[in-house]
Amino acid sequence: MPYSGSRGPAQQVPDMSEKPWGGRFESPTDKFVEAFNASTDVDARMYAEDIAGSKAHAAMLCAQGILSADDLHAIKSGLDEILADIENGDFEFTIALEDVHMNIESRLTQKIGDAGKRLHTARSRNDQVATDTRLYLRSRTDTMIKRIRHLQSVLVELAETHADTIMPGFTHLQTAQPVTLGHHLLAYVEMFDRDAGRFSDARGRMNHCPLGSAALAGTTFNIDRFQTAAALGFETPTRNSLDSVSDRDFIMELLAAASISAIHLSRFSEELILWMSAQFRFVDLPDAFCTGSSIMPQKKNPDMPELVRGKSGRIIGGLVAILVTMKGLPLAYNKDMQEDKTAIFDAFDNLEGCLRVFGDMLPGMQVNREIMHAAASSGFATATDLADALVRAGVPFRDAHEIVGKSVGYCIKADIELHAMDAAACSAIDARLSVDMVRDLSVETCVAARNHIGGTAPEQVRKQVAFWQKNLESKHD
Ligand code: ARG
Repeated sequence: MPYSGSRGPAQQVPDMSEKPWGGRFESPTDKFVEAFNASTDVDARMYAEDIAGSKAHAAMLCAQGILSADDLHAIKSGLDEILADIENGDFEFTIALEDVHMNIESRLTQKIGDAGKRLHTARSRNDQVATDTRLYLRSRTDTMIKRIRHLQSVLVELAETHADTIMPGFTHLQTAQPVTLGHHLLAYVEMFDRDAGRFSDARGRMNHCPLGSAALAGTTFNIDRFQTAAALGFETPTRNSLDSVSDRDFIMELLAAASISAIHLSRFSEELILWMSAQFRFVDLPDAFCTGSSIMPQKKNPDMPELVRGKSGRIIGGLVAILVTMKGLPLAYNKDMQEDKTAIFDAFDNLEGCLRVFGDMLPGMQVNREIMHAAASSGFATATDLADALVRAGVPFRDAHEIVGKSVGYCIKADIELHAMDAAACSAIDARLSVDMVRDLSVETCVAARNHIGGTAPEQVRKQVAFWQKNLESKHD
């Protein structure tokens, strides 16, 4: 927190003339307010975008005859020096100058004098922050999409290895039908693909340049907003200055996309945690991604999936925070909006971490094929297939369901699996139930039979793996 006192000795409150907006003030800012109001702790990370935005703005002012070539030259080299200073750790952000924008502008003026003071012509911090945040999040979104694509590739590779690995599929967390692990993993590939799509859609919508909207109404100077938009890689300038400086939809959208992705990771985490338990023993996660207990020597805890599951809470919290912050704000800029960056930066940092952990952890996951197979072979996972066999012999599905239900009841009492029923047991339940039908039941047959697009058959898994390999390859270009 900027006002927690953690930043060391209290700073001198400067003479009000040192504040870029100090002209109309007579007494200094309250010391606590100065820290409470400052956003440097959060927004200093946008320094490169702030500098890029300033350079594009200055170049446009010069091209339009609003700034001299000498001033532009001084501004550009001054900003380059500041960029190098920041990157070399030679720049100290001060809360007295509130935010990244005023810290950089004020240092520029210190370095180059009057030319630095001319930079803020025809702009405001309101369009500046809107521009910087979009630029910063645009590149973070690109990284996020890359992380998602990487995780998808890892999952596709695992799916290929486990195209034939049979496990129980669940509904209500009760054994339902056998599935292949490859199919199960590819379900997440689909989810992550939609996540990447949401990030990419949001990126497209936010890629319009608010610079030049100034405080709220535009500017009296003859600016060229198309030039700055193009210089900063935006598709076009935004069309409405009021909207430009007050729109935080892009933050809401990105946080919504991040929340959905975090939920997918959280569901996956929950499964890994269950699968690694002593009761399931389906998988073992690599030591490098687990921790032990300080008291129970036998413990190996799946901390990473647990933490990833937990992180979804704060990411969703960020979404709720921005939604509630924006609700009821009148046009145009309001200081409330400074809170947007805390929410989205925290969510992005954490989601990127989650994606990285999963991408790094999953290749080392040990899969216990025998235990998975045994689990799929118990719990009557083949019951639907027995009903289907009866239907193929002409029995109406509802009758078949009833016959198999009775068979399951019989097997529970006899403590056997369906395929172990003998001819006498079959005919005692229903004349239409033959011992051949029950003997034919195997989990391999069950999965292989679901051989249509979207089905769990190993052949389909291989087809989907081939589809994703091609698809992801083209997306990596
Ligand atoms: N630090 C501010 C923010 O993040 C920058 C914009 C400030 N604008 C203003 N008029 N006070 O929102």
